[in-house]
Amino acid sequence: MHTDAEATVQGVVDDELATNGPGTIVVFEGAFHGRSGVTSMLSSSPRYRELLATWGLEVVRLPSPDSQRCPHAVAGAGCGPGCREAVTRWGSELRGIGGRDFGRKVSAFVFESVQNVGGMVEPDHELLRAAVRHAREQGAVVIADEIFTGMHRVGPRWGFQRSGVTPDIVVTSKGLANGGAALSMVWSREPLGSPERYRPGSHSSTYVGIPSALAVVDTVLDRWERWTTVDKDVLRLEEAMRSRLTEVAALHPDLVRGVDAMGGTARIVLTGPYAGRMRHLFRSGHPDTGVLVATTGMAPDVINVHPPLVIGERELDFFAQVFETALNGIA
Ligand SMILES: Cc1ncc(COP(=O)(O)O)c(C=O)c1O
Repeated sequence: MHTDAEATVQGVVDDELATNGPGTIVVFEGAFHGRSGVTSMLSSSPRYRELLATWGLEVVRLPSPDSQRCPHAVAGAGCGPGCREAVTRWGSELRGIGGRDFGRKVSAFVFESVQNVGGMVEPDHELLRAAVRHAREQGAVVIADEIFTGMHRVGPRWGFQRSGVTPDIVVTSKGLANGGAALSMVWSREPLGSPERYRPGSHSSTYVGIPSALAVVDTVLDRWERWTTVDKDVLRLEEAMRSRLTEVAALHPDLVRGVDAMGGTARIVLTGPYAGRMRHLFRSGHPDTGVLVATTGMAPDVINVHPPLVIGERELDFFAQVFETALNGIA
């Protein structure tokens, strides 16, 4: 039996279900949201989509939010007004098929506040805000994928705080367990996560609620809580990486198009697709040590840098030295 309040919640949930989905999912070009059946379909890379394809899932890709690498961007001024308008056009063509009542529904707009696999792309803030606003107008749920960006990886506790957008659902994982356990978390505003929608047991599976994994998260969260200067420290790391990378990049303007730092991450944008070769040089240029960096098939001109958030000044100096050696190697 429902109380009045519960009946109201149920009504809202029913309305949302009726309005929203299941239906089309909207993402940015360059998106990567994991390798499961549904999430791999959101990836911009066909390599991931082919693995476990969920056929029939309709995905709309908005223009790339990467104002540094996109050919339509206005030099030095981020995404242009044309692209901002383009991200607020979708919807009409979906609803138009077969007339108003036969249109496809738009369930969700899913975004990363910094696209890692897409090449360390921070969406232009105006572009992201416009896309979120439009998603809401279309009745879509706004989902922030904070699996990579959550827990201060890109500065504030949540990456979406950088642009000031407010999601309806947040998914996070990596920084919660710090590699000590396989665990992720979903937060949602009410009534999306209410017991009427997710009845007790509906999230049950063999690998849910493992006491040792929960103990790891408990311990990690305690440490986060004790790190009271984290915002300031990560900003300092951002500045330390930016200044070193800028200095080294200036030695080879023919090879480096730009560098950028976002909290505890940075990217080096090269003038050509030689990031894979550079990655090898980062590891082998200094035979006994080397530096681990990442590159992806989606962005063969970008080197992704994600050091531990507690990296020190001396290690950053060494990093700059290795970067310079790798550039000299390519040159
Ligand atoms: C942005 C993002 N979303 C989701 C995932 C989760 O991927 P998977 O489900 O394959 O572990 C990852 C993992 O790297 C990620 O970086």
